[in-house]
Order: sequence, then structure tokens, then C-alpha cells
Amino acid sequence: MSSRRLVLTCPVGFEDLVRGDLLEDDGVRARQIDPGLLLVESIGDLTFLEHATAIDQVSVPLDLSTGVAISLREAAVGRLCERVGVDRIVHYRVHSPGDPVQRDAVIAEVDRALGWINSPGDWDVNLDLATSRADIGPLRWAARFGRLDRLPAATPVAVAACAVRLAKVPAEGVLLDPCGGVGSVPIVDALVRPTGDGLVVDALAEAVDLAAGNLRRLGLTERVSVRQGDATALEVADHSVDRVVTDLPFGKRIGSNEANRTLYPAALREIERVLTSDGRCVLLSDDKRLLKDAVARTHGLKIVRERVVRYNGVTPTAYTLARSRRLRERRTADAS
Ligand SMILES: C[S@@+](CC[C@H](N)C(=O)[O-])C[C@H]1O[C@@H](n2cnc3c(N)ncnc32)[C@H](O)[C@@H]1O
Repeated sequence: MSSRRLVLTCPVGFEDLVRGDLLEDDGVRARQIDPGLLLVESIGDLTFLEHATAIDQVSVPLDLSTGVAISLREAAVGRLCERVGVDRIVHYRVHSPGDPVQRDAVIAEVDRALGWINSPGDWDVNLDLATSRADIGPLRWAARFGRLDRLPAATPVAVAACAVRLAKVPAEGVLLDPCGGVGSVPIVDALVRPTGDGLVVDALAEAVDLAAGNLRRLGLTERVSVRQGDATALEVADHSVDRVVTDLPFGKRIGSNEANRTLYPAALREIERVLTSDGRCVLLSDDKRLLKDAVARTHGLKIVRERVVRYNGVTPTAYTLARSRRLRERRTADAS
């Protein structure tokens, strides 16, 4: 591998999780250099990216003091592009917010020195002068795993990946997303977990249609089902779901704080009903007080971990819930 350093973008608040997985699963050492940014050195090859669903974007750091073209050449960005399937003269774009003169100068320099083609609508490399990084198009999430049809409230796929990771889904287990929208969470789960099933439920017909289309395109219809339904009255059998992972309406862009006063306690009751006795649940919410009140009103779910995350201008908390031990023991005793 020619390029020795890469910058990986992951959701803010999950950096430690992503770093730990890279090291454990692939022996890849990464260190956090900024919120949501990990630097990887001496990467060997790129096979670790084949299942790294929590990584949104892969970039090469540039040293702009030497000039963009020289820095691109020294970092062997052209060879990296070839390696990840770019079989044409590299098409690029320049992102230089508020500085068209600098952008034009860089375009002239790259054209002259590298013969690359400036093609903002169809790029392999995004030269981001604000961050001093060259983003590699074929290594973005959508290029590696497939583009999803989305709605404005859809969960960013890398965030969905981190939530799934927190849930520790058993190999053969069933994962349910009761506010599943276009299916991001069960889709990401099915991409990283070779066995086991998923279920997407959403109240909105449009979301359900998009989820069905996403599953069809990705060839996941055998493993993940989708249906229109209500998170507060799920048509799902008691204790039949190993993991619930969901990005709840925050009550700002989607729903309202008023609606959440009814939705959250009722949805939590249903989650508690459908989860197996050693089930686990990961909930994303920005309506934090209501969420905690709703959990406190369940009979035997408790929050075991919280982490604040940040993406797209929101700072929700990812809550990991488990059954309280007393309830688990009672259920096991009842069953034996
Ligand atoms: C934050 S979005 C989740 C997005 C989803 N993870 C995705 O990637 O598309 C919240 C979703 O909850 C759905 N929703 C709201 N109230 C619901 C209810 N009572 N039952 C089921 N879904 C509901 C909305 O339609 C919306 O799709």
C-alpha cells in the first residue's frame, strides 16, 4: 500500500468504539486527532474497510505548504485511487469555501502537474482545502456498501452502525427497529452480521416503501422484513426479539415533545414486552428527560450506559438498556 496515512471520519462520540474495533478485528491502530476523526498510520492494505460500516469517509491528509499537486503526488493519491478501482484519469473537485481564487489556482496546478480532470459532478477525489484532506470517493460509505434512499430524518448510516455495535447483536439473533424509517439500522446490521434476522417497523407508509426498496436493492429481503406499524402497539410476539435498536423521534424535526410524552412510555412498554429475557436495547434520543422517565416507568429495564453523540447539528444520547438482574433471574426461575 503506497499511502501510509489515512484520516477516517466516524460519528462524534463513538471514536473509542471504532478505534477499539479496528484494532481488535483487523489489528489496525488508529488514534483520535479531532472529534470524529481518526488517523491511521502504516495501514498495510485496505481490507479492514470492507466491513467497517461505522466509517463514513476515508481521506488522505495533505500538506498544503508544499503545494497541492506535490502533496497529492507524495501521498500517492493517484495510486491509491487505482487500487480502489478508479480505472480512468482521476476526476476531482476542489472544495474551497469562500475562496474562488484559491480554488482556480489549485485547479490550474493539478491540471498542469497531474493531468487530472476537474469534474465536480462526478469526482473520484474531493480536494478539501478547508480541512487539508483529499477524500477518496470510492471509499465513502455509499460506494462501499450501496446508496440508500433516505428521508430527512433518516439516521446517518455510520451512526446506525455504531448503535448496532453497542447492541452486541448475537450471531443468530433477531434485531427490531420499531421506528425504523428507511431501514438504516437493520440494513447496517445485516451488512455486518452474516446470519440472523431483522425487522423494520415504521408508522409512515413512505418510509416503509423506501425501506422495502433499499432492502431489495441490497439483496437483503430474505433476512430483513419491513412492515407499517405502530411502535406503541407492535404486532410482534412476546419475548421474541433479541435486540431493539432505534433512533426515536426527538420531538424537534420529527414529532413533538408533546407527542413523545405518550410515545416514549408506550414504546418502552412494547420494547420490554418483545425483548427476550437477556435482551438488550439501544435507543437514540435527544428528548433525554422524557426518555429517562419512560425507562424508569418500565418494570425491569435499566440504562446501563449513556454516551452523547453529535451529527448533523444534533447531540442526542445513545442509551444502552438491559433488563435488571432481578427480573432476569425471576424469568429464568419461572422458565425452569
Ligand atoms: C428519527 S426517525 C428514524 C429514522 C430511521 N432510523 C431511518 O434511518 O430512517 C424516527 C422515525 O419514527 C417514526 N415514527 C414516529 N412515530 C412512530 C410510531 N408511533 N410508530 C412507528 N414509527 C414511528 C417516524 O416515521 C420516523 O421514521
